[in-house]
Amino acid sequence: MELESKAPYVLIFPLPAQGHVNSMLNLAQLLSLSGINITSLNTDHNHNRLVFHTDILDRFACFLGFQFKSIPDGLLADHPRAGDRFMEMFFDSITLVTEPLFKEMMLSGQLNSATGQLVPCIITDGSLSFPIDVGNKLGILVIHFRTISACSFWAYFYIQDMIEAGKHPIRDTMVTTLEKEDMDYFIRSVPGKETFLRIRDLPSFCRARNTTDSNLQQVKNMTRQSPRAHALMLNSFEDLEGLVLSHIRTKCPKTYTIGPLHAFFKSKLESKTTLLQSVSPNSLFEVDKSCMVWLDAQPLKYVIYVSFGSITVMTKDELMEFWYGLVNSKKRFLWSIRPDLVTQKDGKDQIPLELFEGTKDRGYMVGWVPQEEVLAHQAIGGFLTHSGWNSTLESIVAEVPMICWPYFADQQTNSRFVSEVWKLGMDMKDVCDRVMVKKIVNHLMEKRREIFMKSATEMARLAKESVSEACKKRHYHYNLDHLIKDIRLM
Ligand code: UDX
Repeated sequence: MELESKAPYVLIFPLPAQGHVNSMLNLAQLLSLSGINITSLNTDHNHNRLVFHTDILDRFACFLGFQFKSIPDGLLADHPRAGDRFMEMFFDSITLVTEPLFKEMMLSGQLNSATGQLVPCIITDGSLSFPIDVGNKLGILVIHFRTISACSFWAYFYIQDMIEAGKHPIRDTMVTTLEKEDMDYFIRSVPGKETFLRIRDLPSFCRARNTTDSNLQQVKNMTRQSPRAHALMLNSFEDLEGLVLSHIRTKCPKTYTIGPLHAFFKSKLESKTTLLQSVSPNSLFEVDKSCMVWLDAQPLKYVIYVSFGSITVMTKDELMEFWYGLVNSKKRFLWSIRPDLVTQKDGKDQIPLELFEGTKDRGYMVGWVPQEEVLAHQAIGGFLTHSGWNSTLESIVAEVPMICWPYFADQQTNSRFVSEVWKLGMDMKDVCDRVMVKKIVNHLMEKRREIFMKSATEMARLAKESVSEACKKRHYHYNLDHLIKDIRLM
């Protein structure tokens, strides 16, 4: 097959987490379908998982000018890659190991295109700022892609101002965690979020004990790098986050909204060959499809789907509270329960086997499901989620109302927007007991179902419309087609 050496060329570099890799690979495929040569750079660890769990190399062979490269993340192969403390360690090792290697690979031409083109443009995860420095040095344009919501990006962006203005209870001298009254304090200083955001709804890193907390510093600093990039991309759409986006554009005028990316990708594939239409998810985990047969046998809108994403960890006690709450709710449930979901302190906190045995009549539990397919299934009536941004968007497109139990990072903000702004479900952050789980499941699936379904139907319509041709014209300056045109001009 002859490769197009005159086609524009882009290097794509995601943060190595499922949600980020997923979005970036969807974007990579969309750009490739538009005739752009692509190199997708993943960490060695994730590259090996993608090859092992999916037919990724064969699958991408039909994308002309597409190649995969990989780079070490500095952690041992069997190092745990879940939990919030992992992220801290992970950023340290990225800085120590990946950053210098990335520079070396750029300089030595190892990241040139499959036809040998030099890199003219990098689309990097917005959580990584060093590609901007490398790009500036080598005269390469760098575009930041934040795979999080606009509302949480804006909260990250504003943290420093909030602290300086004394609108955040965090103090340099504070040595204990924030008190309950601090957590319920309403923030009135963030433009676009005047009346409904409490401290507990800010990204979890804002719960830091003092302003020198390393996670807080990390997110604050990296977000402030985005205006240095040539442009910013967000996996969102104007009808969902228009107000916040208008504030972001005061700092990053070239902000493209290219979401919901998975819906965009699907709509593009509909017009393509059967080979492309059969693409499987870009999963870092082994997908168990057996749940689809179980779902086929369930009544309409009767099942609540439960998943806490790819990084969340919980204690065995928390897991049991959810399990009892779900069982006591008398609803049926499908639970995607990753083997490393439970923190294994002293090796004692394994997922109890009786959970699988005891719920056979009412629940189905597997390690990792085809989530987009599950959410689109007619038996699904609700989603108990950690409010990861991909899961939130997938739920919106599938018209499924949500119960939010955010774990960390942007999820605390996403869940507040889901409940208070978009009215798409309920937020049970910072609470984990069986009585509450039972009550809230019953509210979502029965008592308040009609209200949530009304908003869910309308938002799903707007989400689908946002990837349509008509909407592209309406928001021309901010959409994916315009970005592709921009890349071609580079
Ligand atoms: C991380 C952060 O946790 C999240 O807050 C941030 O918005 C993105 O990065 P993650 O925990 O992976 O994300 O959650 P999410 O963004 O929801 O992504 C999870 C992805 O895994 C989704 O695309 C979902 O469809 C997929 N998934 C999840 C499966 O395919 N099967 C499953 O069983 C569970």
